[in-house]
Amino acid sequence: MDLRLTDKVVVVTGAASGIGQATARLLTEEGAVVVGVDRDPVDAGLGARGTAVQADLTDPAAPARVIAAVLEQHGRIDALVNNAGGLQARSSFLDITDEQWLATFDLNFHAARRMSRAAVPAMLGGGSLVHVGSDSARLPEIGNMDYAAAKLSLLALSTSLATEFSPRGIRSNVVIPGPTRTPLYDRPGGFGDQAAELWSTDRESAITRMVTEIRPLLTGRIGQPDDVAQVVAYLVSPLSRQVTAAEWDVDGGALRQI
Ligand SMILES: NC(=O)c1ccc[n+]([C@@H]2O[C@H](COP(=O)([O-])OP(=O)(O)OC[C@H]3O[C@@H](n4cnc5c(N)ncnc54)[C@H](O)[C@@H]3O)[C@@H](O)[C@H]2O)c1
Repeated sequence: MDLRLTDKVVVVTGAASGIGQATARLLTEEGAVVVGVDRDPVDAGLGARGTAVQADLTDPAAPARVIAAVLEQHGRIDALVNNAGGLQARSSFLDITDEQWLATFDLNFHAARRMSRAAVPAMLGGGSLVHVGSDSARLPEIGNMDYAAAKLSLLALSTSLATEFSPRGIRSNVVIPGPTRTPLYDRPGGFGDQAAELWSTDRESAITRMVTEIRPLLTGRIGQPDDVAQVVAYLVSPLSRQVTAAEWDVDGGALRQI
């Protein structure tokens, strides 16, 4: 299937790793010109025409600067994928400090909000916003309550953006990954190790517990970055022109809501 992405300029945040990197690579393979934004260097998946912008998106000034740089270099923006995000394992509501709550919202909500605000004026008349949420928004746990609240806010943001801007050509949708095997779990000191410490086990056992007990997955396998990237690419593509204000779960059936 031709996703009709040739020469489309797509900004992907969190493109240095995991789901963002897989998304950048797939969009590039489909002919898009991808701008990968990350606080780390984006050194793969952008092809010959793509560009990387290094920025900490929790800096309130960064999104406007990033979008200005994209417009200067490429002259247009057809889509924005708000994917950068992450979490720290928590042990109790009582132990989460104000600073931690604010940092979680800065990364998982305000970065996407500011990126959207900066990009929308350049997308009027035709564009797609795709926000990467989390199954945690609908299945909060003790270990992720600040992250769950921030990702739930992202759902409200996306629907509000869809309501205001779909009539002006910009669709807005959320992709909801369930447990997906990325460096978020696997990097040393990452969520896998943090969960292992909470549950007094090793990383591999913690991840197995996550997808069999905490989030039993009907598919019987943890997700891979490409599983999510393929849905993001469809929502970026004009083939999804009738899809807006929607949530697309890519979670192996973990949520199975009716
Ligand atoms: N992996 C999962 O199981 C899972 C499940 C549900 C939702 N998600 C969501 O998917 C998205 C991608 O996660 P992933 O698993 O690929 O994680 P990842 O850690 O592999 O990649 C996240 C990327 O975001 C970048 N990033 C983090 N903070 C940043 C900042 N302040 N400024 C700029 N870039 C920053 C990181 O450098 C990294 O490259 C996140 O929003 C995450 O919350 C992941």
